[in-house]
Amino acid sequence: MRHLISTKNLSNQEVLDIFKDAKDFLDKKPRTLLEGKSITTIFFENSTRTLSSFESAARRLGARVLRLDVARSSSSKGETLYDTAANLDAMSPNAIIIRHSHSGAPQILSHHIHCPLINAGDGKHAHPTQALLDLFTIYEHFKGEIKGKKITIIGDIKSSRVANSNIDLLTRFGLEITLVAPPHFMPNSNLNYTYDIKKAIEKADIIMSLRTQVERHEKIVYASLKDYANDFCINSSLINDKKVILLHPGPVNRNIDISDEVMNDPRNLVLKQVEHGVAIRMAVLKKFILEN
Ligand code: NCD
Repeated sequence: MRHLISTKNLSNQEVLDIFKDAKDFLDKKPRTLLEGKSITTIFFENSTRTLSSFESAARRLGARVLRLDVARSSSSKGETLYDTAANLDAMSPNAIIIRHSHSGAPQILSHHIHCPLINAGDGKHAHPTQALLDLFTIYEHFKGEIKGKKITIIGDIKSSRVANSNIDLLTRFGLEITLVAPPHFMPNSNLNYTYDIKKAIEKADIIMSLRTQVERHEKIVYASLKDYANDFCINSSLINDKKVILLHPGPVNRNIDISDEVMNDPRNLVLKQVEHGVAIRMAVLKKFILEN
């Protein structure tokens, strides 16, 4: 049984096959590919985009969706994660989509269930479908010519599962990554990095801005988000008339991550990413349910 825990579970060819299917699914027409299948979503962490994106994807393919309401489930009565999953599994779903605040939770659970498990984000570890939709957005924009493109990733990289998954995937597809963050948000890595946002943006084809993951910080290691915004908010004066595209996984903290003005800029592809997210998740569900 194959699961999607991290981008490392997919070969480059499989990623390209997912992109091909996702491109077809951009027509937004309903399909019957997963008719009669049942998909369970269980989100132990808040989500707006990812949960609704997976559920729309499942429904657009004709599947039934069972959403486990965690707040009202037995997890809140002290049931272990393993027992919750074993009980869900006993209802024989065709896939389980899980989000959890603990890095590694989906990996552990995957050993105890009998259907594909799709990780919708675990702690600081991985968010594979977000990285797929980010790369797909880049791939579509540059019409497949992505090798050697320069991407600057800005923000709380150290605590970001989105950054982790993107760093794996973008590197494999030959993009050149530069990390930009204040020292307390900068991970240890072999990648190019700088504290100078102006310099990093000058040579970028793509900017990826990330939200400060306040909920994942054990202690506050910075003065305030306003101070952070002074140096790292993407505003018009930073990108002026530069030919560049801007990505952000959402939720965007306006005027901290990206200024109001740049939120309305046509180079900002945040809503395109959301649109692509549904198509990518359709392709992922199709692959992991029908090819498993
Ligand atoms: C991200 C997440 O939850 O990891 N958002 C998302 O999935 N759209 C990023 C974030 O919360 O900052």
